[in-house]
Amino acid sequence: MAVIRVAINGYGTIGKRVADAVAAQDDMEIVGVTKTSPSFGCDLAVRKGYPLYCTFDDSAKISAFAAEGYSCTGGLSDLLSACDIIIDCSPGKVGADNLAKYEAAGVKSIFQGGEKHSLTGLSYTSSANHQQNLGADCTRVVSCNTTGLSRTLMPLHNHCSEIGGISVNCVMIRRAADPGDSSKGPINAIKPVLKVPSHHGPDVMTVQPDIRINSLAVAVPTTIMHVHAMTVELPEGHGLTQDSILQMWHDSPRIIIMNGAKTRITTTAEVMELARDIGRTWGDLHEIFVWEDGVSLNENTLYYFQAIHQESDVIPENVDAIRALMNTEVEWEISVAKTDAAIAKFNNI
Ligand SMILES: NC(=O)c1ccc[n+]([C@@H]2O[C@H](COP(=O)([O-])OP(=O)(O)OC[C@H]3O[C@@H](n4cnc5c(N)ncnc54)[C@H](OP(=O)(O)O)[C@@H]3O)[C@@H](O)[C@H]2O)c1
Repeated sequence: MAVIRVAINGYGTIGKRVADAVAAQDDMEIVGVTKTSPSFGCDLAVRKGYPLYCTFDDSAKISAFAAEGYSCTGGLSDLLSACDIIIDCSPGKVGADNLAKYEAAGVKSIFQGGEKHSLTGLSYTSSANHQQNLGADCTRVVSCNTTGLSRTLMPLHNHCSEIGGISVNCVMIRRAADPGDSSKGPINAIKPVLKVPSHHGPDVMTVQPDIRINSLAVAVPTTIMHVHAMTVELPEGHGLTQDSILQMWHDSPRIIIMNGAKTRITTTAEVMELARDIGRTWGDLHEIFVWEDGVSLNENTLYYFQAIHQESDVIPENVDAIRALMNTEVEWEISVAKTDAAIAKFNNI
């Protein structure tokens, strides 16, 4: 089977991670990444051996790279003519302009959670709707929070869907900014998201409409991880116990469960230290972290906390979404296993 030629438009926080995850797979290759102008991020692309393109077709902008010593292969149109699929990792809200260019070039595209579902009309999370995305021209990998919610809710949904389904209320305790981002806040305040419910919970319904879910969100002055405080109503006759729920998550991909008291991993700081200790590139944690001793089932109400590494949980999802759109792997579990095994090699797992 031909190797899938993948382009990255927007080589920033998400783009550089997706590029490495794609390059690790044996069924895909990176044919180019874009930067808007020469900057430090170009050095990383050069070091990794990814051909560098300009985000724009403007010849003055393209030649600006050479003036700073970078070899720029061309503009976005040149990159589009060299790829089978493009992963749009641009900052949110610029997707509509970019989508028009991808469509004109006849190239499949994957957007990120900063764009609205309405841009693509289709969203993606491997465990929820891989099959729905097979062969599609365009999709959106949902945000880091929605990806995290889907990971732990989908096994519960699958168990309960025939007996009434699950209803979820959750609070998103959101990091104020990414560690590399000096432009956002708050730095000394807790900022409630006054649009109620927040978009995070309802966004889960773009990948699994049968989960009834609402969310509130607050931004807090930390740059490492989001925490979700979850309350899930299970239907009568669910037959689950605390242990069987933990086992269910244990058996699901991309979820880590640890006992806070035993491991002394009781905060997001220690979770991130764990990721660094086990040698993860950039200190990333693709998995959703659930505190075992924070899980409590009280009759039909399940409570738990989970931590989300915002810059990385969506990375393997992009790889699986490529296989869905290119229709090269029908079963989500097979794609996930393949993606994670390849990533594990460069992550020293
Ligand atoms: N960061 C997270 O934690 C996170 C988590 C999940 C999802 N997301 C989503 O992922 C997307 C990317 O976020 P990010 O955090 O990676 O942003 P970022 O770090 O700001 O990177 C964005 C990149 O896009 C480039 N760019 C700027 N304008 C562009 C355009 N018009 N077309 C193409 N590329 C353009 C920038 O190029 P230059 O560097 O040359 O300026 C930059 O490299 C957003 O939709 C975001 O909501 C982010």
